[in-house]
Amino acid sequence: MQRRYIHIESPEALSVQQDELRAPAAGELAIAVHFAGINRADLLQRLGLYPVPEDASPILGLEVAGEVIALGPDVEGFAVGDRVAALVQGGGYASAAIARADHSLLLPDTIGSREAAALPEALLTVWHNVFTLGRLAPGETLLVHGGGSGIGSIAVQMAKVRGARVVATAGGPEKCDWVKSLGADVVADYNDGNLRETLAGAGFAGAIDVVLDMAGGDFAALNLELAAPDGRIVCIGVMRGSKAEIELVQILMKRLVLTGSTLRGMGMSGRASGFRSLREEVMPEVKAGRITPHIHSVLPLSEAMAAHELMQSGQHFGKILLDCRGD
Ligand SMILES: NC(=O)c1ccc[n+]([C@@H]2O[C@H](COP(=O)([O-])OP(=O)(O)OC[C@H]3O[C@@H](n4cnc5c(N)ncnc54)[C@H](OP(=O)(O)O)[C@@H]3O)[C@@H](O)[C@H]2O)c1
Repeated sequence: MQRRYIHIESPEALSVQQDELRAPAAGELAIAVHFAGINRADLLQRLGLYPVPEDASPILGLEVAGEVIALGPDVEGFAVGDRVAALVQGGGYASAAIARADHSLLLPDTIGSREAAALPEALLTVWHNVFTLGRLAPGETLLVHGGGSGIGSIAVQMAKVRGARVVATAGGPEKCDWVKSLGADVVADYNDGNLRETLAGAGFAGAIDVVLDMAGGDFAALNLELAAPDGRIVCIGVMRGSKAEIELVQILMKRLVLTGSTLRGMGMSGRASGFRSLREEVMPEVKAGRITPHIHSVLPLSEAMAAHELMQSGQHFGKILLDCRGD
């Protein structure tokens, strides 16, 4: 089948091209993509700063939602015509894409493919980092830096649904209000220059069980101060910088765990295992409407560059999507 896809002409230019989508191999689905999610990693890939693994498509796009149009051999649990959301090995910015069945989620009737395109990266990232690596338990306190991001907004909701207390940071009063409306118990503005004092004054010094940190930089030292004994700090991004000066004594005195991950680094079987947990533990909450992705804007596939510029501007709350159904 013919597909339209986004080609990286240069770091400053993207174009729409056309080619033939290959047939799905064993264990794979071909999907007519309705919507594709924009992720920070896509911006880095466009700039040449995120090397594409050998087994991945060089086409941008890590997550899609749409309809199954063909099945490869040995696929169980999916049929042509099913509505799905999937993590893809590149190739999401396209009118059709290939996904592994074990990296795909069947969609309940209660969620449209528009919202569903915002789910695969965020659900898996939060599940793996907050609940698997971070071992967040009911009654514990989670600190989410970047609570207004696609990832952070899902982290806030997943942690609340699973009985945790949630503290979040966001940039500016409007974003803080929005993150509060998602269910966060306390939200602090990282732009006001008093983040350390605000969080310590609210009683969180030495009281945070798990930190989901996409900021890094100077927040690394703050995370160690805020962490409770036996706390877990999970690094998933470095929006404030990849270098930090930290007080190692905090780690030994409080027996802290400092860890992190990337989805690509989980490998195929690690991601498939994460998707099994999502089907069992998280999709029922999505189906019931207790975890709802917030879509900030949807742009046509041909405006992928404008979508990247919007993400770069940082003005969005939640998720930016591409409509891949035809301009
Ligand atoms: N490791 C993984 O597996 C994995 C997977 C997916 C994403 N990620 C990472 O997770 C992060 C969020 O991804 P996304 O796609 O959800 O992107 P996004 O919606 O653009 O979110 C970026 C977030 O970073 C925050 N931020 C930006 N600059 C900041 C600064 N100087 N200080 C503090 N916070 C700052 C923003 O906060 P405000 O908008 O409130 O300013 C926003 O919440 C990115 O760093 C991405 O690379 C990691």
